[in-house]
Amino acid sequence: MRAVHQLFDAYPRILDDPISARLIGPEALQQIHDPANRYRIPSARELRAHVVLRSRFAEDRLAGAVADGAKQYILLGAGFDTFAFRQPAWARELKIIEVDHPATQAVKRNRLALAGLTESPNTQLVTIDFERESLLDGLNRCSVAVDQLTFFSWLGVTMYLQEAAIDAVLRSVALFPAGSQIVLSFTQPPANRVTTAGEAPRSLAQRVAAIGEPFISYFGPEVLEVKLHQSGFSKVEFLSSAEARELYFKNRPDDLGVPPRIGLVSAVV
Ligand SMILES: C[S@@+](CC[C@H](N)C(=O)[O-])C[C@H]1O[C@@H](n2cnc3c(N)ncnc32)[C@H](O)[C@@H]1O
Repeated sequence: MRAVHQLFDAYPRILDDPISARLIGPEALQQIHDPANRYRIPSARELRAHVVLRSRFAEDRLAGAVADGAKQYILLGAGFDTFAFRQPAWARELKIIEVDHPATQAVKRNRLALAGLTESPNTQLVTIDFERESLLDGLNRCSVAVDQLTFFSWLGVTMYLQEAAIDAVLRSVALFPAGSQIVLSFTQPPANRVTTAGEAPRSLAQRVAAIGEPFISYFGPEVLEVKLHQSGFSKVEFLSSAEARELYFKNRPDDLGVPPRIGLVSAVV
């Protein structure tokens, strides 16, 4: 989605990511350019707007956190995130840790090698299966300092996890020093969701289920807010449609609008 955004969407982009197209490789790029491609239909634009918005929002929050003294950026379920490979100058002093499921991280390592991309010296990759291992145990395998102000992103992951695994990760994050922060995305229960006319509400969930990665956890904002407070977070803020428009969409063509499903929240320890 981030690569498609670079290729198809008008300027100014929501997220500038010159690495993503290199990372996905020539075959995926060819599929994107296929004239019958599915990336120009409304539901694809909505999903893409959501994906680039969540990355941009997390990175903007990260910039603020670094200005406030954050020393570590931990990407939980990093997937094909490319921040570590296009770091702005303000990130160079950060310790960046990409945490992911072993299977996904193996695919990413392979793709990075094929693309000739190497991690910068301030980046480490760590495998953790959130369903099987505690975050802190996994982080013990790399040089994370649990007493340092840390920023976490957890984008596009909670919907794939059992609630117990989500709770365990949140409780671990909340053990980091006061002022540490997480930006996470969540999916609302189907009945709460706004969709574009013509798209069945469950179609994205059905598509990911069909490839063997079903959505299993849904949250309304009220439930998630309680959960975050109970896990040890103090300040919880949901990104509203109006804020997203004001921050990112108002000065750009309407080829890509504010997505109906935003599902983004920041929480401070
Ligand atoms: C849709 S991708 C999102 C990737 C990236 N955060 C982004 O915003 O593009 C979902 C990610 O969640 C990870 N994930 C799913 N289940 C997991 C688990 N049990 N343990 C660790 N990571 C998991 C996948 O490996 C994948 O990287």
